[in-house]
Amino acid sequence: MTKRVVVDDISRLQSTFAQEFDMQAAEVIARRGKFIVGLPGGSVASAFFPALAGLRVDWTRIEIFWIDERAVPPDHPESNYAVASRLLLGPARVPAACIHRMHGELPELEQAARRAADELRSIAGDPPCLDLALVGVGDDGHVASIFPGLSADLSAEARSAKADSVVAVYDSPKPPSRRLTLTLPVLARAGMVVVAAFGASKAAVMREALGEGSASTPVAALLGAASSSLVLLDREAGLS
Ligand code: 6PG
Repeated sequence: MTKRVVVDDISRLQSTFAQEFDMQAAEVIARRGKFIVGLPGGSVASAFFPALAGLRVDWTRIEIFWIDERAVPPDHPESNYAVASRLLLGPARVPAACIHRMHGELPELEQAARRAADELRSIAGDPPCLDLALVGVGDDGHVASIFPGLSADLSAEARSAKADSVVAVYDSPKPPSRRLTLTLPVLARAGMVVVAAFGASKAAVMREALGEGSASTPVAALLGAASSSLVLLDREAGLS
């Protein structure tokens, strides 16, 4: 299990992440022909996507999924896809065939979850395995739309079982309340998990997640289970 923690200014974290993405993409594409990633919403998306858009990578070989989505249309200001579209997909001219958004606009969220799970399985296998998952963190330690207290089964059985990889959430404490999310086992199975957190309000939960003690938050569970992780903290969220 390898875990690297970097505390720096956001502008330098942007390049650290872009370099990591570039390196992983080159390595995985050379080995397997395609690189499969999961992207977040929130402040991490806004901070990191513009630097990604400037990379000279082969976007025709990068399959883009989301780790979560809000139950809104794709052109809504709250849509995670809309943020990516504006800051990454459009500027980098990512081919439409490589974009696999969650359909948060469907009236039946369960149907949207099944559709997203089917699409993920068709490209990332069964059970699905992302090459890289980029994950933001809430003040309460949530990742994607997996909130403390909601199911977080990371047992070997749950991780290998052909369980649902995408689930509907109806009671998210962070608005909007209706969402779609990858599950913790899917996030934890990614070849590389990158957790990024900015701001003093994230310091306590990150300290706990990176400490020796028994933290019970989703971010702590994710970092405990990921085989390879990179944690990017700005100075306010950092531990110093
Ligand atoms: C979302 C995100 C979510 C986000 C955290 C942190 O859809 O809202 O994927 O998990 O990463 O809530 O958000 P901030 O970085 O904006 O605080």
